[in-house]
Amino acid sequence: MTWQIHRGDALAVLPTIPNGSVDLVLADPPYNSGGRTAGERVGSTARDKYVSTDAGHTLADFAGDNRDQRSYTYWLSLILSECLRIARPGASCLVFCDWRQAPATSDALQVAGWTWRGIIPWRKPISRPQRDGFKRECEYVLWASHGTPVRHETPIYLPGLVEGSQPRGAARVHITQKPVGILRQLIRVCPAGGTVLDPFAGSGSAGVAAIEGGRSYIGIENTAHYAEVARGRLAQAAKETSA
Ligand SMILES: C[S@@+](CC[C@H](N)C(=O)[O-])C[C@H]1O[C@@H](n2cnc3c(N)ncnc32)[C@H](O)[C@@H]1O
Repeated sequence: MTWQIHRGDALAVLPTIPNGSVDLVLADPPYNSGGRTAGERVGSTARDKYVSTDAGHTLADFAGDNRDQRSYTYWLSLILSECLRIARPGASCLVFCDWRQAPATSDALQVAGWTWRGIIPWRKPISRPQRDGFKRECEYVLWASHGTPVRHETPIYLPGLVEGSQPRGAARVHITQKPVGILRQLIRVCPAGGTVLDPFAGSGSAGVAAIEGGRSYIGIENTAHYAEVARGRLAQAAKETSA
């Protein structure tokens, strides 16, 4: 199994990856969620949005999280079009989003030419209660495929819901980090020994899950700090897996 992290903008790096060379696209983009006015969007950073002020974290910020709805849909469809070119026929594409961005994300997937196949809620047992309203305890993973989904040599039956809280304390190394346990379940849709493409690698959580699950991994990350964090985590996972 191999792994690599490209440091750069996904729209610049994706065109360098050959046609039909990956078996799963797993994308966890900056959600660009909230911010109804230009002032709200420009005035707050990703850190302001995703890290509570009392959490005491000094985690690095990242750029690219203040698009409005229309530009988010357009930008994501450009990314997902390139991903479709890179995916083998039958490959799956999984894209994370929150409740606000689910419509924009499903539009972008379909504009890009993917066939939308379902939604897997990700339930986070540790989530903030909502006074006088419903707790927002789920994010969502939209599932699509490049044509008819590939048939696995040994049939697989995957869950329709995944559960797990975001890493906390010392285990939290990224402001919007996804739990490796969740990613491990999702990556099973990639045929054994296949390659996972992750255009927004962050701290490399999907790469850790891919390596542990015997898949190769190509990650792209724009923020230099997080690209380094991802390289460190992937090197460690590769060492532990081969030991
Ligand atoms: C939601 S986070 C991914 C978190 C990751 N799944 C993890 O568990 O650590 C999105 C990441 O995309 C990166 N990013 C934002 N815009 C980008 C772009 N245009 N190209 C590549 N990476 C980008 C950010 O720096 C951020 O680390």
